[in-house]
Amino acid sequence: MTVSAERILRDPSSVDTPQLIVSEEILHRNIAEMAAFAKSINVQLRPHIKTHKSIEIARLQMAAGAVGITCAKVGEAEVMVNEGDIDDVLLAYPIVGAKKYERIVKLMEKARIAVAVDSATAIEMIAQAMTRHERVIDIYLEINTGQNRSGVMWGDEAVRFAQDIDRHPNLRLAGIMTHEGHVAAFDPDEISKQAIAAGEKMVQTAEMIRSHSINLPTVSVGSTPAARMTPTVAGVTEMRPGTYVFNDSSLFRFGDQWGVEDCAARFVATVVSRAAADRCVLDAGSKTLALDPNAGHKGYGYIVGHPDVIIDRLSEEHGACVLPEGEEGFEIGDTVEVIPNHICPTINLMDRMAVVRDGEVVDYWQVAARGRVQ
Ligand SMILES: Cc1ncc(COP(=O)(O)O)c(C=O)c1O
Repeated sequence: MTVSAERILRDPSSVDTPQLIVSEEILHRNIAEMAAFAKSINVQLRPHIKTHKSIEIARLQMAAGAVGITCAKVGEAEVMVNEGDIDDVLLAYPIVGAKKYERIVKLMEKARIAVAVDSATAIEMIAQAMTRHERVIDIYLEINTGQNRSGVMWGDEAVRFAQDIDRHPNLRLAGIMTHEGHVAAFDPDEISKQAIAAGEKMVQTAEMIRSHSINLPTVSVGSTPAARMTPTVAGVTEMRPGTYVFNDSSLFRFGDQWGVEDCAARFVATVVSRAAADRCVLDAGSKTLALDPNAGHKGYGYIVGHPDVIIDRLSEEHGACVLPEGEEGFEIGDTVEVIPNHICPTINLMDRMAVVRDGEVVDYWQVAARGRVQ
């Protein structure tokens, strides 16, 4: 069988499959490079932990200089604060619901918690909850800079929401935030143009808010594809990339900026069926790889060392591959390393990850916030 030099696990028989493996070397490098970049442009780094959901990795990010972490859900924050002793969390998600505010108030006893909002209703609900509990909470107003998902429109609309937050004594407007997830292009100049435009909308909005005598310390942006660009706009103070710790094959759509050597997390999978010469089945289906499509590489994952093999169909436990004529390494019992299309939902399917150092598994880390979607 062909073993590619790009594989990270030397002896695949040392794990049962499918197994999520993480290269400690690539992980450490990704964390260190982003931390150094943030420092070099004097912007605070607040990584989004949805990508790894692991206490060990959150701690590595904090040790590398992160000011705190970003979570989407209260459940993720509970794990990171209660089990991981992380003391500064932004919930960069519209948090709506009385039960959630109760849980946030509990967390505020142990950590600084900031919450994103993008509606008058949520502002009112959080203000009432905080008033009842005699607490003041930090608020990030979420801004839509082009992704058209959540967030109030940058500019005038954002100013009106900032004024609304500012008039509540139990809310403190800590910042504005955007997820510039719409920034995507093959051409690096085009990505840069889109990313800078998002950063400029944020800074302009911040200046408009401040011109109404409202204090606004933080201007926060967050995306891996745009991480080297949006935060460079003068006036941006915080960045929240998530995917960068592991990277994934969806990033291959951005030309040669990301490659196999940047991808820390992979699956070791075994060929379990070879019913025809031109197809085989890996033991990694949609319950392992998740069903996200990929604009950068055909199929449901990138097989390291076999770029022309397409993982064509996923059923729950079957990864059905189309094999080019003469492709070696796909006999029954052979193993491959697969880089998932989108690592974040994939991680949420796993209980634990095997940590690989110098080609050997040296540890297993729990995906501690797995399934914490409430
Ligand atoms: C609100 C928010 N901030 C930051 C990020 C991080 O973006 P990326 O995964 O591209 O690093 C995301 C990703 O979904 C997000 O939703």
